[in-house]
Amino acid sequence: MTDQLIIFDTTMRDGEQSPGASMTREEKVRIGRQLERLRVDVIEAGFPAASPGDFESVKAVAAVIKDSIVCGLARAQENDIRRTGEAIASAVAGRIHTFIATSPIHMEKKLRMTPEQVLDAAVKAVTLARSYTDDVEFSCEDAVRSDPDFMCRVIEAVIKAGARTINIPDTVGYAIPFQYGALIESLISRVPNSHRAIFSVHCHNDLGLAVANSLAAVLGGARQVECTINGLGERAGNAALEEIVMALKTRRDVFDLDTRIDTTQIVPASRLVSTITGFPVQPNKAVVGANAFAHESGIHPDGVLKHRETYEIMRAEDVGWNANKLVLGKHSGRSAFKARLAELGIDLGSEVAINAAFQRFKELADKKHEIFDEDLHAIVSEELTEPQNEHYALLSLMAHSETGEQPQARLVIASGGVEQLTQSSGSGPVDATFKAIENVVMSGAELQLYSVNNITSGTESQGEVTVRLSRGGRIVNGLGADTDIVVASAKAYLSALNKLEARVERVSPQV
Ligand code: KIV
Ligand code: ZN
Repeated sequence: MTDQLIIFDTTMRDGEQSPGASMTREEKVRIGRQLERLRVDVIEAGFPAASPGDFESVKAVAAVIKDSIVCGLARAQENDIRRTGEAIASAVAGRIHTFIATSPIHMEKKLRMTPEQVLDAAVKAVTLARSYTDDVEFSCEDAVRSDPDFMCRVIEAVIKAGARTINIPDTVGYAIPFQYGALIESLISRVPNSHRAIFSVHCHNDLGLAVANSLAAVLGGARQVECTINGLGERAGNAALEEIVMALKTRRDVFDLDTRIDTTQIVPASRLVSTITGFPVQPNKAVVGANAFAHESGIHPDGVLKHRETYEIMRAEDVGWNANKLVLGKHSGRSAFKARLAELGIDLGSEVAINAAFQRFKELADKKHEIFDEDLHAIVSEELTEPQNEHYALLSLMAHSETGEQPQARLVIASGGVEQLTQSSGSGPVDATFKAIENVVMSGAELQLYSVNNITSGTESQGEVTVRLSRGGRIVNGLGADTDIVVASAKAYLSALNKLEARVERVSPQV
């Protein structure tokens, strides 16, 4: 047993499976670089067999990351494993993570396979994966509802076939901490060759217990935890990386384990993932929520001022709350702008793209004077929207609201390269703007979510708007940022429409 806990981040794979959270290749490279700065041990970058786009994204992440293992997910099927092996081929350190369900309900109803067939497929998958890399992880999907005796047989066989990490996922978020911890402990003690593998856990948050279950498993002997930034993930999400890491650090007396994580990169990672996916972080979210270190009740600030540890168990600066330094201003030149992008690990790919982003930066600096890292990420997110995916674009907008009058919006938008003037009234300027866009586009999409967040603080800040649209079972998130929130809203709505226009065929790993 080691005193090191391996942190495996699956924001770009399981996190991406949240409806509307899909990421482009460029977005994955940016998140990958931030995860590397955060010093996660393993970055699960995607599911290469899901689509050509997923394959290219994993390949791109594998090509740039030097200090973390880059991993791809594969079902226990030959084609998936070969695609994943090819996608991670250029990584300095690459891992194939293959899985098959071991619970009776999944084997019978989903896979329509007998337990013996599942055992055979698992061994074949691991053997084939080992022909691409020495670093192979195997997961018993739906482990918590599986028969432990059967799992012991599967685990022993896949370790013999070369799996170096064994993951015991709580796929449906059904586990209770003390039972899950005991399950991990008993599997480790019962599987005869368990000492040749690291045991890992991967918990979903359907009962709000993902972090508690993961920590119980660590006490039971697990030495890898799979988790995501902001707890993003299928349905109610996965265990939140920031909570796991800070629990281990703050309660070292209980866990006595180290991680490699640079905790000061936690808040920047949280912000970046939220900006890119359009999933806002709730204010009272542990560690990364805006209120996580705010003391407002009167009694608390007094205590904190007298002696900080009266009410604070962690320091805000230790998780990166001060990391959003003022970086640039109105008078900053192109080289300072370019240097800061490089420090943030942002590669725009060409001088033309840097010029266009610099132009946006200058326009923003004119409006808000102080530019923070978060502002740069928002500018870059817009700049990196691939032009071929931009069917609709905002050219100009005029919105009018006055007490006692109906709000109005008049816009010029480009639709497939053709300029169109459109206008509408609405219950407010944002409603009027969306109605005006729909007068032209007639998308038939349903608005599922509209939210506005301050990117930084103060009324000068850019508002970052998320618009979630659904149509024909597809859900997309559009993002827009501007110091004018009506403009940000129009950009977000058009960005969501552009995503709906782009045809993306993906296979879910759960199939
Ligand atoms: O939840 C799950 O079981 C998974 C596996 C593919 C590890 O995401
Ligand atoms: Zn999962």
